[in-house]
Amino acid sequence: MTDRYAVFGNPIGHSQSPRIHALFAAQTGQDISYQAILAERNGFAAAVDAFVAAGEGPARGANVTVPFKEEAFRLAAQRTPRAEAAGAVNTLSFEAGAIIGDNTDGAGLVRDLKHNLGCDPAGRRILLLGAGGAARGVILPLLLEDPAELVIANRTEETAARLALEFANSFSRLPGCTVGVTPDGMGFPGLAGRAFDLVINATSAGLSGAVLPLPTSVFAPRCVAYEMVYGRVTPFMNQARDADARVADGLGMLVEQAAEAFFVWRGVRPHTAPVLAALKAS
Ligand code: ATR
Repeated sequence: MTDRYAVFGNPIGHSQSPRIHALFAAQTGQDISYQAILAERNGFAAAVDAFVAAGEGPARGANVTVPFKEEAFRLAAQRTPRAEAAGAVNTLSFEAGAIIGDNTDGAGLVRDLKHNLGCDPAGRRILLLGAGGAARGVILPLLLEDPAELVIANRTEETAARLALEFANSFSRLPGCTVGVTPDGMGFPGLAGRAFDLVINATSAGLSGAVLPLPTSVFAPRCVAYEMVYGRVTPFMNQARDADARVADGLGMLVEQAAEAFFVWRGVRPHTAPVLAALKAS
């Protein structure tokens, strides 16, 4: 019997996850199926139930994307520390009737930075732009890499300040967390004159083509600028390029978060380079 997996979202038609996981399965010789499921906006839990109940083989797990990551967090009876820190779940495992929630987004970002881009966060001054769900999901994994500094800057200053304080107060309670750096939260005006070695855009501004009011100083010499959005050139990427930063988009993070989920489910870590190359080629 083939183990079954799926990704739930709304919309879901654009999802690359079925293709990515099919490539991982072929490469590692794992016998799995993986489908994309469009869930109604108020029907996420019912869609998961239906997926688990129906089908040829056993349902083993699922990925969750926009807008259901917070609901998946609540649906999971058990959660990993990194899911707790993210406040959101993108990976579910169905084990003996229990639903376990994990979050592989931050691990995916860190792996893309370190292994694909040669940009180790350790010792770097990091600027994280945004204070919504995408930003929250990567804070703990970044802090665990031992950066020199982590500044969270957001259009709404108060949200960034609250998020920084929350992590400053809570990460030390998570198992295995001995983080040496305390994040700082501010509005964009607070960035004047500041310089960073790694600037990560976790705002959704790029989706609407909005320009972030960033001083050029934030891009230090040899800075890496990481845009979490993929499949388009955003104003942030242009700003970074104009300031001579090295620019990357979020396609690598997409593939790496999928690889981490595959590893969680199957205990096998697929090679991501050929999959990333296949996606880039199309
Ligand atoms: P996501 O899950 O993608 O993080 P979200 O939780 O809605 O989505 O958060 C969107 C983030 O992008 C927020 O940090 C938001 O800033 P505010 O907290 O001030 O709303 C940021 N954002 C969205 N559009 C923006 C814009 N035009 N300029 C600056 N920041 C923007």
